[in-house]
Amino acid sequence: MGDQVTLHETITDGITVTDEVHASHNYAERARRSLWLQMSRMGAYNEHNEVPIMVRGAGTRVYDANGTEYFDGLSGLFTNSLGHGRRDIAAAAAAQMEEMAFFPLWTYAHPKAIELAERLSSLAPGDLNRVFFTTGGGEANESAWKLARNYHKLRGDLDRYKVISRDVAYHGTTLGALTITSLEAYRTPFEPLVPGAVKVPALNFYRAEKHADDFQAFGVWQAHQIEEAILREGPDTIAAVFLEPVQNAGGCFVPPQSYWREVREICDRYGVLLVSDEVICAFGRIGAWFGGQKFDYVPDIITCAKGITAGYAPLGAMIVSDRIAEPFLHDDVSFLHGFTWSGHPVSCAVALKALEIIEDEGVIENVRANEGYFEAGLSTLKDIPIVGDVRGAGYFWGIELVKDQGTKDTWFGDDAERLLRGYVSPELFRRGLICRSDDRGDPVVQLAPPLISTRADIDFMVEVLREVFTGAAQLNI
Ligand SMILES: Cc1ncc(COP(=O)(O)O)c(C=O)c1O
Repeated sequence: MGDQVTLHETITDGITVTDEVHASHNYAERARRSLWLQMSRMGAYNEHNEVPIMVRGAGTRVYDANGTEYFDGLSGLFTNSLGHGRRDIAAAAAAQMEEMAFFPLWTYAHPKAIELAERLSSLAPGDLNRVFFTTGGGEANESAWKLARNYHKLRGDLDRYKVISRDVAYHGTTLGALTITSLEAYRTPFEPLVPGAVKVPALNFYRAEKHADDFQAFGVWQAHQIEEAILREGPDTIAAVFLEPVQNAGGCFVPPQSYWREVREICDRYGVLLVSDEVICAFGRIGAWFGGQKFDYVPDIITCAKGITAGYAPLGAMIVSDRIAEPFLHDDVSFLHGFTWSGHPVSCAVALKALEIIEDEGVIENVRANEGYFEAGLSTLKDIPIVGDVRGAGYFWGIELVKDQGTKDTWFGDDAERLLRGYVSPELFRRGLICRSDDRGDPVVQLAPPLISTRADIDFMVEVLREVFTGAAQLNI
């Protein structure tokens, strides 16, 4: 990178912002020397292949250190649902910092946590009305498994410690959450994990082995995989089932309506707690506040994070019903679990502002109004020979790439690597589209743009994908 300093102008909320272009700071080289990147192959970065340095965001766009603009097609990391650079959210954070930056929720409470708990209770489906805060999604899942175990113990169900989750699913990286996660590559380096993980098939209708011509019947069959697992393991050993409303890893697996109804009944039948991991799906991502409102179910515990603050501060939560809280509400009983930063006042103030904006500005309505347009645009890509499946909901879509549309033959290992890391990812980025190319399951490209994105933004994403997939189809991998 050169040393010269240039100025770059962009317009945010009608205000012209002039940035010093950051090329002179040599951030990439400094990052390479001192920063440990998360989930990244740090050895892949060198002077010819620099880590991208993002310096600023405005609306649906972000800007790198050279002043290059990108469309943020993954909302940061499924976080920035309201886009970047909102001064009203920044003001809410600043006001809270001035009033009281921090006080813990360990034996004390503060107004913003109380107001946010009430707000979440009013938005959540059914009787979910009590909130336990964490600082992120993995912690929320870790907490939910511990809560489920503790709940059963307090009720005299001493052997219920196991957890059921779906293949390919990602639920976080702390040891408990990693145990619930089903991605081999993420698990193997840290084994042995926590005892008691039971896996059931992912809900992949595109590659259905049973009921491939009947989505509803497929949903019932998938739910019965959970029942079979419960019976095989022994019902009185199962604490909880963890499922996302729409599963992210593997590429936006959407269930039919039959699925959640059936799963709810099965969990009730065997006294197993149903945890809906909505770390990605909640707060509008799939066109509803929560998965339960879209698929008509009431879980025992919702875990959420990311979009709760629209990405402006870290926060996670478990939302539970009084029924689950009840054994903990007696005399000297405590849920002996927590984190210093849980329910940080600044994060709670930010979350309250973000939820207010989602409601006042009709953000979920925007997602619903454009959901069909998004799907139709992506579906036009099916005329490219490597586009196998387009699936998703709301502003959360996955495109599965295949070698052959007829046989659904796919790429593995080095070939998948050449396709995604070698071509698709860098080409999308070069054309100004940030999204996710993922080979944790079969190769998929995923889009989760800010929920404020317009039809013009959708057109831009489809156009870039068309160029890149057309190029990829000619690679002959
Ligand atoms: C479904 C799901 N659950 C849990 C997590 C973990 O959240 P966090 O990274 O905040 O710990 C993620 C993160 O992407 C997720 O997608």
